[in-house]
Amino acid sequence: MPTNKIGHSFSPDSGAVVGIVGLGYVGLPTAIGFHASEFEVWGCDKSLKVIDALKSGLNPVGDHELDSTIPPYGTAGWNLSNSVEKIAPLCDVILVTVPTPITSDLKPDLSHILDAGDKIFSSIDKAKHTTIVLESTVYPGVTNQVWRPLIQRYGLEEGVNVDIAYCPERFNPGDTEHTVRKVARVIGCNNKEIGEGLVEFYKNLTEEDVRFVGKIEVAEAAKVIENVQRDINIALVNELARILPAMDVDVEDVLSAAATKWNFHRYTPGVGVGGHCIPVDPYYMIQRAADVGVPAGLITAARAVNRSMPSHVAGVVTDLMWNAGVPAGEAKVLLLGWSYKAEVGDPRETPAEPLAATLIGKNISVGAWDPHIDSAMYPEGVIPVDDFSEAAGYDMVILVTAHKACLEIDWMGLLDNMRTPIVYDGRRVLDLEVLQSMGWKTYAVGRPANGN
Ligand SMILES: NC(=O)c1ccc[n+]([C@@H]2O[C@H](COP(=O)([O-])OP(=O)(O)OC[C@H]3O[C@@H](n4cnc5c(N)ncnc54)[C@H](O)[C@@H]3O)[C@@H](O)[C@H]2O)c1
Repeated sequence: MPTNKIGHSFSPDSGAVVGIVGLGYVGLPTAIGFHASEFEVWGCDKSLKVIDALKSGLNPVGDHELDSTIPPYGTAGWNLSNSVEKIAPLCDVILVTVPTPITSDLKPDLSHILDAGDKIFSSIDKAKHTTIVLESTVYPGVTNQVWRPLIQRYGLEEGVNVDIAYCPERFNPGDTEHTVRKVARVIGCNNKEIGEGLVEFYKNLTEEDVRFVGKIEVAEAAKVIENVQRDINIALVNELARILPAMDVDVEDVLSAAATKWNFHRYTPGVGVGGHCIPVDPYYMIQRAADVGVPAGLITAARAVNRSMPSHVAGVVTDLMWNAGVPAGEAKVLLLGWSYKAEVGDPRETPAEPLAATLIGKNISVGAWDPHIDSAMYPEGVIPVDDFSEAAGYDMVILVTAHKACLEIDWMGLLDNMRTPIVYDGRRVLDLEVLQSMGWKTYAVGRPANGN
């Protein structure tokens, strides 16, 4: 087992203590995972609400896969605090899983990394060696740019009492196939010996491949391009979903035909891309490319396509309602699903929000039903619908999130309550022939309007 400079190995047997700073979608399952691997864990979040929920055994995040895995407070090795300064000196390895959002002008917001770093580097125990690993998604260069100056500022010496590394998180909330225990990890570190030690450390968490990939910037760039690639692939099908119906061709028919070729990768068009990663991370790469003076035209264009999908869909559905004779000024739309992806109660960057805002801006009333979302999470102006008996007088239903519960609603019962029975499948997951046979007028993203 590789050891660090002052002899701690990164193993639970050696008594290595692991701190996790930021107990959200990423940090919480990571903390639970290392605890389950018998490490002494200090989970830390600046939000008292998060710590209090965990102390009461409640899950503070919307990934319900975690509900039954949270250790009861008081379990040996499961420690919680909202003070970074308190836990930092107690830990041998500190993993930082704080948010990396974008500002209102679409620039990287590194304030959480700086804040967490400042508190950690100022309070670690100089008499021992601490390894601090950033897991948040960033552009290549952030870990060294933001944290290295702190090493000097707080009188620490890299390789002696501190080392820094980067290990991006790749798991997929709500996806039982790709949990923190089932994703491969890559580690970048300025110190090869520590990087290799961290490989052994992360092998306690995941069953999959763990690799030291050299420079921190390699691991940082690997993570960000994974999400850039997804954004570009999705943007392509979203653009096709706008072009092909204008030629009276259904994008899904084309994708099915193209997918018979061995090297065609199929993606599904939709009302937009959401969550904390795909609509955010490309802006990190765009910024870094600008910093080094190289244009990122393709990445920028893909972002623009995906970002405009909610307003594109709002335009399409509005025309459909006006063409069906829905009286302007009285139109009512019901959104089925609000969270950004199926089976997760996470509304961050959901395309439902700009879709609803655009419709409301056209004087259309918008209701929303999502069994994974607390009604208090809806923005002002959106009417929460708790059950379908309340969903009366709507002119259109838009399937926004492919939650199983949304697909399996009582479509016949809802049809009876509609003023105008129009359904728009914003995820291409509904059986539109069955719905049509019930009496629904059916439309879908990427499908010609006369495909009814
Ligand atoms: N959510 C995902 O699916 C996912 C997947 C892979 C990577 N990531 C990346 O992981 C990082 C974390 O994402 P998340 O979804 O877990 O975020 P999150 O918002 O769910 O959780 C972050 C937590 O950090 C806490 N926090 C913020 N600043 C802090 C500080 N200075 N000290 C202590 N706690 C602090 C917040 O209170 C919050 O509870 C981001 O960079 C994200 O891009 C997310």
